[in-house]
Amino acid sequence: MDIKEISLEDLNTDKFIAEIIEQISSSVGSGVAINALSGGVDSSVVTLLGHRALGNQFRSFFIENGLMREGEPEHIVSIFRDLGVSVELVDARKNFLDALKGLTDPEEKREAITGSFYKDIFSELVKKTGATYLFQGTNFTDIEETVAGIKRQHNILEQIGIDPEKMYGYKVMEPLIRLRKPAIRELGKVLGLPEELYSRPPFPGPALAARIIGEVTEERLDTVRAATRIVEEELAGCGAFQYLAILHEDRVVGMRDGRRDFGQQVEVRCWDSMDAKTGTPTRLSFDVLERLGQRISSEVPGVVSVTYNITAKPPSTIEAV
Ligand code: XMP
Repeated sequence: MDIKEISLEDLNTDKFIAEIIEQISSSVGSGVAINALSGGVDSSVVTLLGHRALGNQFRSFFIENGLMREGEPEHIVSIFRDLGVSVELVDARKNFLDALKGLTDPEEKREAITGSFYKDIFSELVKKTGATYLFQGTNFTDIEETVAGIKRQHNILEQIGIDPEKMYGYKVMEPLIRLRKPAIRELGKVLGLPEELYSRPPFPGPALAARIIGEVTEERLDTVRAATRIVEEELAGCGAFQYLAILHEDRVVGMRDGRRDFGQQVEVRCWDSMDAKTGTPTRLSFDVLERLGQRISSEVPGVVSVTYNITAKPPSTIEAV
């Protein structure tokens, strides 16, 4: 891998920002660039850099792929409106759900999501805006994991032999490729992102689809979305690196109102980690775990079993898909 990491200790934020802005301006020239904002710290930082460097020549889109958390698209668009950056919401729910229909293999699901983003949605946006560049928030860890063959990160192209210009008709620029999360958070802070965004736990590009084992359907998305809200409410402020809910495919026998209920299983994961490369399960108190079990099984329709993952990464990974 010939990309060299810039560690948090070695990062001079002002110098880095100045250099990236210069690089963006000289590459894009008088053209147009676009990006997809997901509300994660990586794409949020890219959005602010693009806006600073290019002003109106930069257009930012939030792709509503139907895989996001409750209320997320509107919330993120409104935060950026307050920052003076207008973000256009694109309704692409049907594209993604159609592409995921019938797929159960993790890598095939990831590939379907990548295809929907790059081939369908971004190509269309490039055509509509006349953009020559797509900016994205790929970071050093994404590259490392894809090159190591652990998971195909949704935003990796070149490292798996895809030339976006030949294949999709636009160039991709990745301003954060030499940084890991802690350094990207630091940049976000300096660029004026609200703390809610720069200190947010990571959230994967394939979104809730990375947390559904088996087929991704609207109904199963509703289930994992509701469980995710509860996990985030209960674990916000616990200091962990990341916490999530996973919907399993296997059903188990449970009971509700004195009757047998062959129901669904949700797994809660909560991680202590520095940079997502390795991780250990957070030692949550049993009271917290019991409350999660009680809330998820009573508030999320169909769930009769809630478990807590006690495996470290490796051999586990942070997400389940
Ligand atoms: P894993 O599951 O590989 O995740 O241990 C490591 C970190 O990366 C996030 N993740 C992704 N982020 N696109 C992303 O932008 C992806 O395809 C993707 N898959 C996993 C995950 O949430 C964790 O923080």
